Parts: sequence; C-alpha cells; structure tokens
Amino acid sequence: MHVERYEKIFMALTLVVLLAALATIGVGVFAAEVHLPAPAGRVDPRQIRQTAPFDQPGVREVAPGEYEAVIIARAWAFEPNEIRVPRGSTVRFRVASADVIHGFLVENTNINVMVIPGQVAEVAARFDRPGEYVFLCHEYCGFGHHQMFGKVIVE
Ligand code: CUA
Repeated sequence: MHVERYEKIFMALTLVVLLAALATIGVGVFAAEVHLPAPAGRVDPRQIRQTAPFDQPGVREVAPGEYEAVIIARAWAFEPNEIRVPRGSTVRFRVASADVIHGFLVENTNINVMVIPGQVAEVAARFDRPGEYVFLCHEYCGFGHHQMFGKVIVE
C-alpha cells in the first residue's frame, strides 16, 4: 500500500491532537480536580425542619471571618431571605429544598447551583466589597418563582 507523505503527516497530526485532548482531560480531572458538583449531603424534604442544620436556618460565625448560612428554599421564598456579614467574610452556603427543584444564584459571585430536593447544595464565596448581593431562584418553580429572592448584606 502506498501512503503519501502528506497523508503520513496528517495522520501524525491527528494523533497529536487526540493525545493533547486526552491529556487536557486528564490534567483537568486528576491534577486540577475539575469535576461536576456533587451533593454535600442528603436531607429528606419532608423532614427538613427537623433535620440539622435546617432546623435552624440562618447565618452563624463558625470561625473568625468565616460564616455558615443555612437556607431553606421553598415555594416561593428563601428562609432566611436576608443574610448579614461583615466585609471580608467567607460565607459557606448550605441550601436545601423543602419541596421542588429551585436554583440558587448570588449576583457578583460565582455561586450558581441547582437546589434539588433531597440534596444539600454547598457553595462558598468571599465578600470583600461592602454592599448588597441579591440572591435568587433561577429554576422555574411555579407561580411565585419570580418573587423568590433575598440578599446578602455585606457591612
Ligand atoms: Cu424557586 Cu424558582
């Protein structure tokens, strides 16, 4: 079988591109630890108000400058819908649904997760600039979806 020189080059380049793509995935998964968000825990939506930490929704300081915000998402509100922290704080949000699928997005941060019934969504952000950061539901959840929002107030 006769193979042209250019064909050989082309086949070699194809192999290089393929290996480069595999290497990129390998580095992403094993070195940079890029992966899909996994649920941080489980909670039965029917038992959510009796299950820690969702029996006490709200924000609390867990270490100097570090806060945990426990939020229940339900049709059609977040509980609580206002969170106050000093500037420079890191806030770890733990959000779970009491009914259907909701979303949780905090503006001007990279927080954007789905809140799936039965799963605890855990995300964190650092708030260096004082001001108000609106958070909202971005997953259509029924009649009152558009009024499902709240805010983080950074003082
Ligand atoms: Cu909850 Cu849309």
